[in-house]
Amino acid sequence: MKAIIPTGGMGTRMRPLTFTANKHLIPVANKPLILYPVETIAETGIKEIALTYNPGQLDIIQNFLGDGSKWGVKFTYILQENPRGGLSNIFQVCEKFVDGDSFVMHLGDNIFTGGIKNLADHFKKHKPKGLVGLVHHPENVRLGVPYFDENGKLVKYVEKPENPPHDFAVPGVYFFDPIIFNCFKGKDKITPSPRGELEISSAYQWLIDHKYDVDTLEIEGAWLDPGKVQDWLEANFYLLDLNTKTKIGSEFDKTVKVTGRVTVGKNCAITNSHLKGPLNIGDNVNITNSTVGPFTSVYNNCVIIDSTVTESVLMESVVIDKVRKNIENSIIGPNSNISQSNHSEHYSELLVGELSKISL
Ligand code: G1P
Repeated sequence: MKAIIPTGGMGTRMRPLTFTANKHLIPVANKPLILYPVETIAETGIKEIALTYNPGQLDIIQNFLGDGSKWGVKFTYILQENPRGGLSNIFQVCEKFVDGDSFVMHLGDNIFTGGIKNLADHFKKHKPKGLVGLVHHPENVRLGVPYFDENGKLVKYVEKPENPPHDFAVPGVYFFDPIIFNCFKGKDKITPSPRGELEISSAYQWLIDHKYDVDTLEIEGAWLDPGKVQDWLEANFYLLDLNTKTKIGSEFDKTVKVTGRVTVGKNCAITNSHLKGPLNIGDNVNITNSTVGPFTSVYNNCVIIDSTVTESVLMESVVIDKVRKNIENSIIGPNSNISQSNHSEHYSELLVGELSKISL
């Protein structure tokens, strides 16, 4: 079996962060998002992974991920010309790579905290022509929804139905037999949906309509879909809580108080501060006279002086300098600088990019 991980897309729902960064490289709990699917696939034992990208995006992804040897797998980078082609178009462009094998497509911005091994094992053992993962989701009106007959067999897969009959939804992991490539050929080939995309639901519906077996299986663990800013912040909190282990990679003296589970990276300089877990601090971070955490991630090269930061995400090289009010529930993009204005009684001085949100 092979795997496909899409790394393209416009990241519009993650603006302004995606004006300058590829969504898949944005950190979630201090780990770039794309590493979650890569590790999840590597855990299943799959060795060949295609990473699809859109025009102009290859360098940034390839420079970051390399050839896959770090995870014991082999990456092949494949161009998807049309970023709005749809999820089925993504695996369509990988037909040569798949080369008659079966495959799984794992969306590059989805996180399965319990992995997908149970799905991969089921697929290998029972060999259906398709396998759909299932989750319970309170807002499945904005997702793909499976419909079942009285025996629990999948009979329909509908994108974003108005009145779903239950709370099941399909998350971003899809297994297929290579027979699926026939859905792009011949008279009854699938066609773009009203939103102009070759939907993943259309591919599964094609299998169902051609009387091929499509199984369903609930995923184990949580499904996180940090495609929108609020969901991303929640994913960050969830993973900090789930995964933070006490691991202190830098030395500091007794003026630093640590409560709860705190991870500190290498070469950090921390003095006279309180670190409250769950908290993840990257490498080369400087913290002085401050309180940081809980539920906070501080990426590499940040500086925090005389400030309090809680329930927030600081991306690379952020500086927080002598800010009197607490910084809370905030996402601060790379290389931003927030400091107390010398004229704070009278006015604030701001240099704010497009689509930023400031609440003073
Ligand atoms: C896509 C699929 C949908 C699936 C969802 C999971 O939706 O079309 O069936 O439930 O991913 O994230 P989209 O994000 O394109 O709206």
